[in-house]
Amino acid sequence: GQDRAIRPTRLADYIGQPAVSEQMEIFIGAANARGEALDHVLIFGPPGLGKTTLANIIANEMDGTIKTTSGPVLEKAGDLAAILTSLEEGDVLFIDEIHRLNASIEELLYPAMEDYQLDIMIGEGPAARSIKLELPPFTLVGATTRAGLLTSPLRDRFGIVQRLEFYNTADLTGIVMRSAKMLGLSIEPEGAHEVAKRSRGTPRIANRLLKRVRDYAQVKSNGLINQQVADSALNLLKVDSQGLDHMDRRLLVTMMEQFEGGPVGVESMAAAISEERGTIEDVLEPYLIQQGYIIRTPRGRMVTKSAWLHFGLTAPSNI
Ligand code: ADE
Repeated sequence: GQDRAIRPTRLADYIGQPAVSEQMEIFIGAANARGEALDHVLIFGPPGLGKTTLANIIANEMDGTIKTTSGPVLEKAGDLAAILTSLEEGDVLFIDEIHRLNASIEELLYPAMEDYQLDIMIGEGPAARSIKLELPPFTLVGATTRAGLLTSPLRDRFGIVQRLEFYNTADLTGIVMRSAKMLGLSIEPEGAHEVAKRSRGTPRIANRLLKRVRDYAQVKSNGLINQQVADSALNLLKVDSQGLDHMDRRLLVTMMEQFEGGPVGVESMAAAISEERGTIEDVLEPYLIQQGYIIRTPRGRMVTKSAWLHFGLTAPSNI
């Protein structure tokens, strides 16, 4: 969609993630002053928090070009070699879902990251030889949902590791106001705040909901997004007062109704709601844990008292 158009392209326009922002400003400033490529950067965190946005910002701030690919797309060594040999000094190679690289490609990446060297094999059998190609100094930016998914040799080769956190409502309100301005919408701060509050701490969700609230405002009122219009639109979209969506509620309600609130293992939950385990772990749980609706225990996940209360149910007396 128009996502590209509303993404910030400079660190100065990047709202929130204060720790990441402050550190990156220093590391980028220092590398630029030395005239060197920035060290390789690993960005991890739940989907939609801006891993791709940050990779693009890094490339812009380094005055380089970004080449984007992803773990599952790189099938053969030649796929990675083709991209690496097309890089110029100061460019950024962005590998999304870097935990899904196959082992042979990961091994090709090690000398490229450490010494800007590409070892390629030519020929087969006894005639096979390896040749070394010099690569220009570049920055690898890798993104993944959880740092623990990476092998340690790969993780150890990143000089900079950044964890993206869910955004607080104030920062997300700022993002919604900024996006609204770029889309030419009329919005009141209270309207932006309502959208922000109900976006699971996630800019991608906030920007998507903003567009649907815009549609609602256009058809049901005069186009102005105020608090009341945002509230009505979000209710229609089945986003509840705490910003939980249909899938969040399904997970929590299933844990309460079928598993007495837990503890329940993730595999049992996956089967009960017909979702992939990875989706539960990477997409649904992080926000529910951060908001205190779910806790992880050695015996499995449990819903908390707040979850029972949120659904107007009585918590079992033992929690
Ligand atoms: N759009 C998405 N993420 C953003 C951020 N962190 N700052 C500003 N605009 C954004």
